[in-house]
Amino acid sequence: MIQSLSVVPGFDLWPGLLDADAQRALVSRVLEADEIAPFAHYGTPQGKAMSVGMTSFGPLGWISDRGGYRYADSHPGTARPWPPMPQALLDLWATLGDPETPPDACLINLYRGDARMGLHQDRDEADPRFPVLSISLGDTAVFRIGGTSRKDPTRSLKLASGDVCRLSGPARLAFHGVDRVIAGSSSLVPGGGRINLTLRRARAG
Ligand code: SIN
Ligand code: FE2
Repeated sequence: MIQSLSVVPGFDLWPGLLDADAQRALVSRVLEADEIAPFAHYGTPQGKAMSVGMTSFGPLGWISDRGGYRYADSHPGTARPWPPMPQALLDLWATLGDPETPPDACLINLYRGDARMGLHQDRDEADPRFPVLSISLGDTAVFRIGGTSRKDPTRSLKLASGDVCRLSGPARLAFHGVDRVIAGSSSLVPGGGRINLTLRRARAG
């Protein structure tokens, strides 16, 4: 296992952890998932459509609408279960996430064009002792990470295809977001853009 860079306490980055074959295999799984559980632009609780397309792998998927942010056991459009979690993601979580308790949700974000994600905390999970693991595929993102208060200073870093990062411990509830994606920086994603996978344990362990 290659060494991580500790960017801020609790935020670790493994640049290029996934090789080209592993990246391509995950993109294929994402394209298959889109057939079963199509990417959707969920509405915020305020009623604004998100610029990032979303779907999920696993027993639970993160969704948003007028009713708020939550985990659901089926796709809101099809009412069918989410596609199963790829084994490669279960394996990665066992190494970098938690060796005993498997992840039960993987949010799949698709950034095309000007899609971005405002600063937010991941706080819809039952137990913040479990980390969030993030995998970047395709175009490079300009990612921003701060502290646990919205007013804390932030720093920005680039996340390239194959990079894996982890929010845990003091950074588990850190504000983070994606300022923009650098179009054309990778040719991995058919049609262009960036895919981000975030593995979570949504229910208590
Ligand atoms: C997220 O916070 O859900 C996504 C972060 C990213 O796309 O890198
Ligand atoms: Fe997040």
